Amino acid sequence: MTLDLPVLAAESRQKLGELLRLREDGVPLAYITGRQEFMSLEYACSSQALIPRKETEILGNAVCDLLNRAIPPVEGGLQVLDLCTGSGNLACAIAVHCPVSVVFGVDISQEAIDLAAVNAKQLGCADRVRFSCGDLFEPFDSKGFHHFFALIMCNPPYIDPSKLSSMSPEIIAHEPRLAFDGGPLGVRVLLRLLHEAPRFLKPGGWLAFEVGLGQGNGMMRRLSRDARFAKVNGFPDEAGNVRAIVGQFRGDVPGTSSGEAAVDSEAEKKTVLTDPKSSRVGQAKPSNV
Ligand SMILES: C[S@@+](CC[C@H](N)C(=O)[O-])C[C@H]1O[C@@H](n2cnc3c(N)ncnc32)[C@H](O)[C@@H]1O
Repeated sequence: MTLDLPVLAAESRQKLGELLRLREDGVPLAYITGRQEFMSLEYACSSQALIPRKETEILGNAVCDLLNRAIPPVEGGLQVLDLCTGSGNLACAIAVHCPVSVVFGVDISQEAIDLAAVNAKQLGCADRVRFSCGDLFEPFDSKGFHHFFALIMCNPPYIDPSKLSSMSPEIIAHEPRLAFDGGPLGVRVLLRLLHEAPRFLKPGGWLAFEVGLGQGNGMMRRLSRDARFAKVNGFPDEAGNVRAIVGQFRGDVPGTSSGEAAVDSEAEKKTVLTDPKSSRVGQAKPSNV
């Protein structure tokens, strides 16, 4: 059977040729079409921010579960903070799929924040999502936001810069480096997150974050060792790698400062995070929290 394709006008043929050339040059398809689906919603997409990834839906679904089932709703909505918001994909998906939530998104890149604001408007959730530009918790570093959030989520940059040369040129050459370069061992933002989040979480609130391949078990152990967190749970991808972690903040524990619990020596960081077995959990199951 032959398929009759429409005859293209000269202008359309030229445009198609330009698009094909961009693709041949390695520009990601989502940047060419300007669109990407994430958690069943269509997002505007450009080189202003990372392209939303399928694996980040593991974190998004875990957060939806917590907000829609585990955390009792409160008047005025459950306050959610999305750090490293990028295109606003997680922030908007949570606002749309979890009507009980009011979401704040933060990114250090103003370009990303501009794109996130476009997405919130297009998805019709701009009345329940507010974006700020800043370094992690910095836009909320005032007393009014201490122990304020019911849930803090984050998909941080977590790639070790020494591994960047082995990554696909499509990513390296076209997506913002700020979005994937996680500093030494890929854990700079992750460690700050664990260190700083307790100050901003309500007792009983939840911390939820994505980790890179091979970081899962080490990060779970690290959070489990912090006496202020309970119900630490890992969510694996189809290959069994933990890619999202959640834990419940019990409240401040006397004698435990954020520093003691979350900042380890360089040597320990290396042992925990380079453990070859740490990328697999086998038995870990999606949320039973
Ligand atoms: C892996 S991307 C995640 C983007 C989006 N949340 C997603 O799931 O696709 C990490 C984002 O963190 C931002 N970022 C990096 N360092 C940051 C920091 N110190 N404070 C706030 N945002 C930061 C980057 O600009 C980038 O948009």
